[in-house]
Amino acid sequence: EILSTNGTKGITEVCELLMNEIEYYNWVGFYFMNDETQILEIGPYAGAETEHTRIPYGKGICGQVAVSGETFKVDDVYAQDNYIACSIETKAELVVPMKRNGSVIGQIDIDSHHATPFTDEDEVLLSQICDLVAALDLSPFGH
Ligand code: SME
Repeated sequence: EILSTNGTKGITEVCELLMNEIEYYNWVGFYFMNDETQILEIGPYAGAETEHTRIPYGKGICGQVAVSGETFKVDDVYAQDNYIACSIETKAELVVPMKRNGSVIGQIDIDSHHATPFTDEDEVLLSQICDLVAALDLSPFGH
């Protein structure tokens, strides 16, 4: 309901809802893929402002998901070589791809201040949310 009636603003509300309701979600946001520039562009998000509004494919956890198209769960971000730090408080990260008509058009990114917080249920929930958001056809890049 929030999603279908409010477009992009609705997605920001979804991010806020997830962050507020799930204690170990401390930053929640979407990135959309721009295949022409090979750069992920930030979409709606909730949590601290980030300077990582554009992430080249391949860089960081998000950029790796842009290339692989596969969910990437990181229990300990400090154990990763290819990681872009947004907040020094972040310990874990989960990135789930958003698909539309079989191709990956973006992703949802969750940062957690807790170590090893994510379960399979998080992956299912976030993938369902990605499906809902993809169906709204809000990517600025004409996927
Ligand atoms: N940590 C991400 C960068 C995005 S911020 O977490 C919002 C990464 O390594 O790709």
